[in-house]
Amino acid sequence: MSGKRLKVIVTRRLPEPVETRLGELFDVTLNSDDHRFSRGELAEAMARADVLVPTLGDAIDQRLLAQAGPQLRLIANYGAGFDHIDVQTALSRNIIVTNTPGVLTEDTADMTMALILAVPRRLREGNLLMQKGEWQGWSPTALMGHRIGGKRLGILGMGRIGQAVARRAAAFGLQVHYHNRRRLHADTEERLAATWWESLDQMLARVDILSVNAPHTPSTFHLLNARRLKLMKPSAYIVNTSRGEVVDENALTRMLRAGELAGAGLDVYEHGNDINPRLRGLDNVLLLPHMGSATQEGRLEMGEKVIINIKTHADGHRPPDQVLPSML
Ligand code: DGY
Repeated sequence: MSGKRLKVIVTRRLPEPVETRLGELFDVTLNSDDHRFSRGELAEAMARADVLVPTLGDAIDQRLLAQAGPQLRLIANYGAGFDHIDVQTALSRNIIVTNTPGVLTEDTADMTMALILAVPRRLREGNLLMQKGEWQGWSPTALMGHRIGGKRLGILGMGRIGQAVARRAAAFGLQVHYHNRRRLHADTEERLAATWWESLDQMLARVDILSVNAPHTPSTFHLLNARRLKLMKPSAYIVNTSRGEVVDENALTRMLRAGELAGAGLDVYEHGNDINPRLRGLDNVLLLPHMGSATQEGRLEMGEKVIINIKTHADGHRPPDQVLPSML
């Protein structure tokens, strides 16, 4: 990939400074109207590009990878999650995959905390009342929610984002519990004042609020299925800012409607933007359009990471954010 300028194809609009820099460095093709690439467009891009810069929503599976041109050597994903890319097949075809971890940790943890506060304190209902002009003034019994301080927060998935949530939660007086495949080092557990549960089932039965911070992998798909959701207290809340596939959305919807769970704050959905319509009408649910990492600062830093990954790879080095199938 030396000599001529690298052909880089970007599948979605990126922040303007990122696109400008990509244009300075590479022979770049941008997506000026930000439409979602069809499979045909993705295949065509993979047949032409030296480097593809896809993002969440671009499903790059075995069949598409089979159509990649021999020149495609790097898929530099714009985003931390890489569950939409078949990394194993890419590697077997000598295509390296990179992502943008770390730079969206704090922003996503902030959004998780916002949902942890917003749902038990009924911010959605309060805001709706104001926007409809229906507020009759203060009343001692109106819109009573639940106190956050002193409650048990369960964090499912204690990676970077889970730990950033734990740090914030402590400041709000929440007791932090977590379930993770691997137990944290004792020092980290102590610093976060976090209690590890080897058994997810046992933790679920005891928490007041559950924050889902686990990636979507074959082993986390529907980890929160109907059986496990039923272990939770009817007074418990669920917040999900990681991946919708971790939760059985239909089971969750049924339980929220039946009052078997107190509420949910969701930023992600099992089928992308095709959301269970029954979720929408519920008072005890706050729905966001996958905006956990949507800050100007974070999105620029994600772009910077993409560029560093491409440059490092082009210079013949291992890019800093290469992902491996073993990370799943
Ligand atoms: C990612 O980068 O994978 C996030 O889900 C986008 O917020």
